[in-house]
Order: sequence, then structure tokens, then C-alpha cells
Amino acid sequence: MKISTRLNHPPSVSVPADNRPLVAPIYQSVKFTFDDVAEAERQSRGQRQGFQYSRVSNPTLEQLSLTLAQLQGREECLLTASGVAAVNLALLALCKQGDHVVLFAEMYQPTRYMIRRLLARYGVTHTMLSIEDTVGIEQTLASKPTRLVIFETPTNPVLKIADIEAITAAAKRHGALTVLDNTFAGFHNHGQFDIDVFVHSLTKYASGHGDVMGGAVIARKELIDKMRTDFIVIGATLDPHTAFLIQRGLKTYALRYERQCANALEVARFLEGHPNVASVTYPGLSSHPQYQLGQRQMQDCGSIVSVDLKAQGVAPAAFANALKLFAISASVGSTESLVQPGQLMMPRDLNEAEQGWAAVSDRTMRLSVGIEDVEDLMADLQQALASS
Ligand SMILES: Cc1ncc(COP(=O)(O)O)c(C=O)c1O
Repeated sequence: MKISTRLNHPPSVSVPADNRPLVAPIYQSVKFTFDDVAEAERQSRGQRQGFQYSRVSNPTLEQLSLTLAQLQGREECLLTASGVAAVNLALLALCKQGDHVVLFAEMYQPTRYMIRRLLARYGVTHTMLSIEDTVGIEQTLASKPTRLVIFETPTNPVLKIADIEAITAAAKRHGALTVLDNTFAGFHNHGQFDIDVFVHSLTKYASGHGDVMGGAVIARKELIDKMRTDFIVIGATLDPHTAFLIQRGLKTYALRYERQCANALEVARFLEGHPNVASVTYPGLSSHPQYQLGQRQMQDCGSIVSVDLKAQGVAPAAFANALKLFAISASVGSTESLVQPGQLMMPRDLNEAEQGWAAVSDRTMRLSVGIEDVEDLMADLQQALASS
């Protein structure tokens, strides 16, 4: 074999069946080969197990899919290149022209955009309500045939808790599917409810380290099968190396989430007693307006704390600028603590009434609490609140 041939056909290395690597290798290969044409044909017809092309399936992605489906308590999972790709896949694959969708003003802005602007171009109509309006949900579903209800809980950034039982029961009564963006609550939460489809941004708690993006659509097999061909041809799949990093990040998911929740509760309690703070919203505080609902629905209360600063105290930007451990940054769920001021989270696409439901003010601060030592975090918040 000449050099250029050898370089393109390197020696293969086989690993004995009783000598497996502890960590599964990354299958960084787009293509998979077959010993003969008949087997390749059987693979493309779905008549045998195996892999052909990584946009369709890949062993590294398969392992991550199985892990996430089990974590969320459902049968199957499709992995996408970002969280928004997961939201969009679920919407595109489940809706057709003439369908009606219910969404909420408190949702992630790109999700609102997808439904109100993109899907509208393809003849999908919508009704936007407040997540607190359970009567409005029932009335809307009763008066308009609806394909799906998409919602989030706790909401971003003011942490309203959706009444999942009320929403899923109303949806079932009227033949609508429910899609829950479960990114904030995490895979270990909400699996006990009768939700048809979960979507997640893996960019947050799953990978956990703020260095990769990904998304997941998780559901029972019958629904995933319906979405699979759209998923393959839309092509926003995850790369195997990223899937490997997310799988690696997941090893500490439970530990990170537990520590983040414990830190968030202490931070929330500390801020609640501070003279420069007007209000603190955290589902784990008994002062949260839906504390009982949160306790019933969730195993823990999350790592996000929403704070409204007093008008006569420190200016919001000065507070964020003064923080040394909380980085001014979008997104949540990193091991490092982050802060996002209200002026960067204003839902400007909403009208005045809808902005009232979204309830973000320019004195709102979203804290995404990390895994640092909580005393250092509280000392940092204390010095920032004292700054002028
Ligand atoms: C609730 C929620 N869903 C979806 C997304 C989108 O995720 P990604 O940034 O991975 O596309 C985000 C991102 O902040 C989010 O907060």
C-alpha cells in the first residue's frame, strides 16, 4: 500500500469484547460502512439495526438520547443542535397549515417569535394568554380546535409556576397536545404529569459548563416516530463531539443541580431580608405566590432567583456592574453564577397588557446561582447592594 492509500485506510484497531472502555468513545464519523450492498440496502430500508449517516443516527447521540429519555421518564428522544432547534422541531413537526396553537406571554422570546411570526407565515394561528389564566386556557380550548398548548414552568425570569395538572387536563379534554419546555426545571422534574412532549435546551443544566449548545425533544415512541422524518430532513442535529461533552456533563447533573438549588435558596433568603431589595421571587420561599403549587409539582426549586431592587436603593446597572462573582451574561445553568438585568430581558415584542403578564421591570435582576461557596456569593451580593 502506497503512502496516500495508507493514510486514507489506516490500520483498524479492534477492542476485545471483554475489554471495553469505561467511557464510551466518540463516534466522530458521518458515514458508516457495510460489508456488502445487500446489507447497506437493508439498513436504508430500516430492516436491520445499525447506522448509516450521522444526520439520521449515530451511536454517541444514541447513548445521550437514551440517557435523556430515561431521565425525563419517556420512551424516545431526538437531539438537536440547540434548544431553539428543539422547540422549533416540535412545533414544525406537530403542526400543519390551519392548526391553532396556545402559547403564553411569559415564554422564551424566540419561542413566541417562532409561533407568532414564522408559523403564522405557514397558516398556523395562535392565541397568547398569561400562564396564570387557567380559565382563559379552558375557554380558548373549548371555543377553538387546538393542535397544541406549549408552555414553560417556572417561567423566565419571574418564575411563575404553571398549574400543569390544570393545563394537561384541559388539553386532554379538548384533544390538544401539550408541549412543555422543561429547561428551567430540569429532566428530573415534571415526568409524572400527562405531558405529551418535553423540549429542553441542553445548553443549560445538561451540559452545565456553558461551553456547548444542544437541545432535546422527548416523548413517547409514537410521537417521536411522527417527528423523525422532519427531524432528519430539517438537519439541525447535534454533532457527536458535542453529544459526548453533554454526556460527560450529565455525570455531575444531579450533584450540580442539588448544590445550585441549595445555594439559590440561601441566596433568596439572604436577599429577602435585605433593606435595598423590594422583593425576591424564588419557588422555594414560602412568600412565593404559588409556593404550595411548586412544592406539589417539583422535587426542588431550581437555581434561578428573581430580585426586584428598591427604587431608592442601588441602580440596577450599578448593582450588576459591582458584582464580582456573578458575571453579566445571558443564559442560565452554568456552574458559575450569572446576573442578567431587566433592561436586557424586556419583552419588547409584547403589547402593554402582555408586558404586564410577563412582569419584567427594569429593576428586575435574574440571578442564575452557580456551585460556588454560598458565603462568597452572599458577600458579593452584599457588597454590590451597598454600592452606589
Ligand atoms: C426556556 C428556554 N428554552 C429554550 C432556550 C433556547 O436554548 P438554546 O439557547 O440552547 O437555543 C432557552 C435559552 O435561554 C430557554 O431559556
